[in-house]
Amino acid sequence: MVISSTITVDLGERSYPIIIGNGLIGDFDLAEYLDGPDCLVVTNETVAPLYLPTMQKMLPAGRVVESLPDGEQYKTLKTAEQVLDRLAASQASRDATVIALGGGVVGDIAGFAAACYMRGVAFIQMPTTLLSQVDSSVGGKTGVNHVEGKNLIGAFHQPRLVLIDTDTLKTLPDREFTAGLAEVIKYGAIADGDFFAWLEANMVELKNKNPEALAQAIHRCCELKAEVVTEDEREADRRAILNFGHTFGHAIENSLGYGEWLHGEAVAVGMLMAAELSRVSEDEQTRLRNLIEAAELPSRPPAIGAETMRTAMQMDKKVQGKQPRFVLLRSLGDAYVTSDYDGGLLDDILNKADI
Ligand SMILES: NC(=O)c1ccc[n+]([C@@H]2O[C@H](COP(=O)([O-])OP(=O)(O)OC[C@H]3O[C@@H](n4cnc5c(N)ncnc54)[C@H](O)[C@@H]3O)[C@@H](O)[C@H]2O)c1
Ligand SMILES: [Zn+2]
Repeated sequence: MVISSTITVDLGERSYPIIIGNGLIGDFDLAEYLDGPDCLVVTNETVAPLYLPTMQKMLPAGRVVESLPDGEQYKTLKTAEQVLDRLAASQASRDATVIALGGGVVGDIAGFAAACYMRGVAFIQMPTTLLSQVDSSVGGKTGVNHVEGKNLIGAFHQPRLVLIDTDTLKTLPDREFTAGLAEVIKYGAIADGDFFAWLEANMVELKNKNPEALAQAIHRCCELKAEVVTEDEREADRRAILNFGHTFGHAIENSLGYGEWLHGEAVAVGMLMAAELSRVSEDEQTRLRNLIEAAELPSRPPAIGAETMRTAMQMDKKVQGKQPRFVLLRSLGDAYVTSDYDGGLLDDILNKADI
C-alpha cells in the first residue's frame, strides 16, 4: 500500500480526508473511521467480483453487503429503498457505517441511503471510476433520479472518508476512463491555468495510465473540488462553476437519449461550446480543443439540430428552476457564473449543431 497524498475537505466538524494512493483497498486501516461494528458495503454486480473480496478484509466480522444492478437506470428511489431495507433488516444501529464501493452511481445511491437511515449514519466513499474519484465522491451531494429529472431527489450528506485507490482504474473500460478525463480537463479550464498547462504536457502519460501522473492529476482535481465545496457547500453560487460545459452537455445527452454518449463525452463538446460563448481568445479555444482531442474525447457536437438542443436546454433550466445561467471563462483557469451572455452568439453556436 502506498499513500501518495491526503487532502482535507475543511467543513468544520464535518471535515474529512481524501486519501489517494494505490493498493489501499484491502490494506488501509479503516478502524478510526468506523463508529461501531455495523457496516454495510454497497457495490454493484460489475465491481463486486473485482474488488469486494479484497475490500472485505478491511472490515469487522458481521458486515453486510448489498450488491446493486449496474447502470444509471437503476439510480432510483426503489434501489435506494433496497439499501435501506438491508440496513433495517440487519438491524443496523445509529453508529453503523455505509461504504460505497463503485462509481458515481453506487456512490450517489449509497450516500443517499446513508443520509436517510436514522436521519443520517456515517458514510465512506471508495470510488472506482475516474469520474467518481475526481468529482462525485467529494462534496456530499447524494441522490437518485426521478422520471421528471436527473438527481431530482437527494440530500447533502458529507462522507467521513474518501479513499481513492488508483489501482482500480486498471480495470475500468477505456471509454469510461476517457470520459472521466473530461472532468479532469474541466478543473484546469475553470480554476487552474497551470494545471491546464500540466495536462497539456502530461496527457500522453495520463492516457497510458501512468500511476504517478494519475495520482497527481486526481490529487489536484480533488484539491480544487475541496476548495470550491469549502467556499460554497450547498451551491449558493461559487460551486456552480463545476457545471462548466454541462448546460450544453446535458442538452446533448438529453437530445441523444441517455446512454448514447457518456456524460464526459457530452461535457467535452459542451466545454468547447461554452468557451466559444465566453469569447475567450482563439488561441485558448484551440488549446482547449487540442487537449480534448489529445484525450481522445469528441470535439464536435453530434448532428442533433439546433432546435432540439435549444428545447433540451430550456427543459434543463426548467428542471433547475433558475434563470438561464452559464458558466463562462474569463480565460483558461478562470470561470464565473452569469446570466449575462450574448444571445446572438448562443444561436450561432447552436446552429453549428445543425449540420
Ligand atoms: N454526487 C455528485 O456530486 C456527482 C457528480 C458528478 C456525477 N455524479 C453522478 O455520477 C454518476 C456517474 O458516475 P460514473 O461515471 O462513475 O458511472 P458509473 O457509476 O455508472 O460507472 C461506470 C461503469 O463502470 C463500472 N465500473 C466502476 N468501477 C469500475 C472498475 N474499477 N472497473 C471496471 N468497471 C468499473 C460501473 O459498474 C459502470 O458500468 C451519474 O449518476 C452522475 O449523476 C454525481
Ligand atoms: Zn459532470
